[in-house]
Amino acid sequence: MAKDVIIACDFDGAKKTLEFLDLFKDVKPFVKIGMELFYSAGPDIVREVKKRGHKIFLDLKLHDIPNTVKKSMAVISELGADILDLHAAGTINMMKAGLEGVRRKDGTRPLLVAITQLTSTDEESMHRDLLIDKPIKDVVMHYALSAKASGLDGIVCSPLEAAGVHETCGKNFLTITPGIRFEDGDVGDQKRVMTPAAARKAGSDYIVVGRPITAAFDPVAAYFKCVKEFLGN
Ligand code: C5P
Repeated sequence: MAKDVIIACDFDGAKKTLEFLDLFKDVKPFVKIGMELFYSAGPDIVREVKKRGHKIFLDLKLHDIPNTVKKSMAVISELGADILDLHAAGTINMMKAGLEGVRRKDGTRPLLVAITQLTSTDEESMHRDLLIDKPIKDVVMHYALSAKASGLDGIVCSPLEAAGVHETCGKNFLTITPGIRFEDGDVGDQKRVMTPAAARKAGSDYIVVGRPITAAFDPVAAYFKCVKEFLGN
């Protein structure tokens, strides 16, 4: 599995996104399209970014009854993204249904990964609001194992959890990790962060990096700095 840096294109429209990607000229970074961009620009943004030669993580975090997830996955899978995701909290039945849905008419399929506990959910709110009374790290690991049992390819998690997930679920089970900041960078609203170099040592397969690149004075230079630290080239 090729490791890579994924740029979180958290823009509110197609124009800003495409102008941003134009900065990279012939370099075609792996990009993440999330809900904000997808809901504002629609499915065409996925087709357009794909046509320009980028790999895409379409981060729509599906969570519904299994039949709806399966049918929705079948629709978004045909847009051509390389990675799709859903919530492990939807249960093993829902994850298996999602996996059935992602198979395309031509026989190929994107990778499918699960969201475990969002990093915005802390242990206290998980206990209080969700009535889950286990330690949060056990819950994350349990969700990772459920995702593996469902046949999924990996999970989205904190880089701090990547090593543990690989130990529990195997080294081929993918860890996609946001919460990345440069050593001297602004942490912003992220609470638990790692540098690209530390994420590499922790065994992350893909790092998702937004503002350290998108809000940089020179986004292309910031991207290459990140690639150099994470991939060591
Ligand atoms: O700008 P920043 O590097 O913080 O962006 C991180 C990206 O990863 C955002 O798109 C954010 O929504 C996403 N993300 C995250 N933490 C998670 C899951 C996704 O920061 N647990």
